[in-house]
Amino acid sequence: MNPCLENKTTFASDMDSTISRIQARIGCKPDFAMQTRIRQIASEWEGGKGSLIGLLQRIQLAFNYVPPISLPIVAERLGLPLGQVCGVATFYGSFSLEPRGRHMVTCCLGTACHVRGGAKIVDEVSDVLAIGPGDTTEDLLFTFETVRCLGACALAPVVVIDGKYYGKSRPRRIRRILQDIRAREEAGVEQAS
Ligand code: FES
Repeated sequence: MNPCLENKTTFASDMDSTISRIQARIGCKPDFAMQTRIRQIASEWEGGKGSLIGLLQRIQLAFNYVPPISLPIVAERLGLPLGQVCGVATFYGSFSLEPRGRHMVTCCLGTACHVRGGAKIVDEVSDVLAIGPGDTTEDLLFTFETVRCLGACALAPVVVIDGKYYGKSRPRRIRRILQDIRAREEAGVEQAS
């Protein structure tokens, strides 16, 4: 549920109640450690009203997404209406308001990739990760998404895993790569690039 339906100025006095309402809307439990960390990041941020995107990027860097409870904190820190902060956080596709996995898997389903077997790769990824496009695994290891073109049509079908392009992909190869990442994670040696 979009927590950004309010369009009002957030004041320090109602900060906690605003956070509580957002948490209730998105059905998450209070995470006081996360709130404390967000408040610390916001308090250390030196930018002004014009640095909204920068502060959201900083928070996303810390958590791998922008926790919705950070929005009123950001609004208060920068002296901006909550609606404006929510608007920016939801407008740009680079921001995610939902938790994302440590590893991003992006399958292209554009025309070139589709005719060269992109759908089979999507099925393979869905099978090995046990999630569909747009989802994140429960252990927060993988987020899986599909796109309409990655600008590398000559390499179709294309899969991008943690920023690395795999051209002329085959389902089995992608399966092996994902299984290897999971095995390395379980062994405690994997680092998302
Ligand atoms: S259609 Fe897949 S990279 Fe362009």
